[in-house]
Amino acid sequence: MAKVVLDNLTKQYAHGYITAVNKLSVDIADGEFLVLVGPSGCGKSTALRMIAGLEEISGGTVAIDGEVVNEVHAKDRDIAMVFQNYALYPHMSVYDNIAFALQIAKVPRQEIDRKVTEVAGILQLEPYLGRRPGQLSGGQRQRVAMGRAIVRQPSVFLMDEPLSNLDAKLRVQMRSEIARIQDRLGTTTIYVTHDQVEAMTMGDRVALMKDGVLQQVDTPSNIYGRPANIFVASFIGSPAMNLYHAQLGERGAGGASLKLGSRSLQVTESVFQQRPDLARHAGGEVIVGMRPEDMEDLALVPGHPPDQTITADVYLSEALGSDNIVHFNLDARVAEVIDPDTLSDISKSLDGGSSACVARFDAKSTVRTGERVRIAVDCARLHFFDAQSGLAIWGD
Ligand SMILES: Nc1ncnc2c1ncn2[C@@H]1O[C@H](COP(=O)(O)OP(=O)(O)OP(=O)(O)O)[C@@H](O)[C@H]1O
Ligand SMILES: [Mg+2]
Repeated sequence: MAKVVLDNLTKQYAHGYITAVNKLSVDIADGEFLVLVGPSGCGKSTALRMIAGLEEISGGTVAIDGEVVNEVHAKDRDIAMVFQNYALYPHMSVYDNIAFALQIAKVPRQEIDRKVTEVAGILQLEPYLGRRPGQLSGGQRQRVAMGRAIVRQPSVFLMDEPLSNLDAKLRVQMRSEIARIQDRLGTTTIYVTHDQVEAMTMGDRVALMKDGVLQQVDTPSNIYGRPANIFVASFIGSPAMNLYHAQLGERGAGGASLKLGSRSLQVTESVFQQRPDLARHAGGEVIVGMRPEDMEDLALVPGHPPDQTITADVYLSEALGSDNIVHFNLDARVAEVIDPDTLSDISKSLDGGSSACVARFDAKSTVRTGERVRIAVDCARLHFFDAQSGLAIWGD
């Protein structure tokens, strides 16, 4: 049971030349499952290692249950860590692998037995206690590594990409397994991954980092539905959100028109009510975000308002059985994240032709490569960002 507070946590390398983690502040509640996610090199492992006490802290503090632990040795922090490369002892049985830390700590044999049996029960490892790691599947081995962490009953679990060595199917299985175990134990957990699906499905909250800087920390549903900036918007969701520079018209009774290159869409009054600050952008440039899943083949949405559709030539249609992923070009400027730290110059124009847009149609859509299609855009679900800063336009 522990609350973990990171306050302006900073790590610099190379005499301050590299800032791997830049003023990271997050309050992690007792029992919470926080997922730290972001692209490779964004500072996730460094942050985790500072919390664990495996890395010296350059600035800021880590507090566990109100006590600043910056100077507390790793082994005295009451934390257990599960890594990507969990090294099990190959010559020891599963039982002894799990029991090892307790044996070292000279815990009485009976108590060790009780704890190992309990942990093996939670992890469904009872049938394998007598085996050696080499006689287990990848997922079973991963569970043994978890067992070694759980048996110590730490107040905090830190996990750094613990599933990345497993094949895709096993990852999915272990994903829910870990979430279930964490829920049952109620141990505060910080879980690092670069996999957005893990982030969205496992965590109570998701903390998204880029270049050492925290971009947003929020529930999975808010990270998806209310991304704070265009980086978060583009990182979460697959296929990614389409982001374009667009011209918002003057606001009239029925909302405003949005010019997206040579096409236009009607932004309804309800959108302005949902995002009060959008009114200040009327008559100016904005970045608009359209999620692939918020576009549909018009043929499948009878009665969709004609002023909320676009027509495009499909250069690639991928009928996946479950969906039809449709690619086309829009002649609008793509908004691209360059550097969310320097909030100016966040977007740039790509050379013409590379303004590809992706839509996720229902599998019933018969649109195929080379065809022209009319696309129903769910304009109530458009996202809007400031054209200069890339920050979401809300205003509430
Ligand atoms: N010992 C070091 N000396 C200098 N720079 C380092 C050192 N360790 C890490 N870095 C740099 O710090 C940054 C953050 O690294 P970190 O390992 O925390 O990233 P990560 O988010 O865990 O990435 P990945 O998803 O690839 O594991 C990177 O730019 C990395 O090159
Ligand atoms: Mg890492």
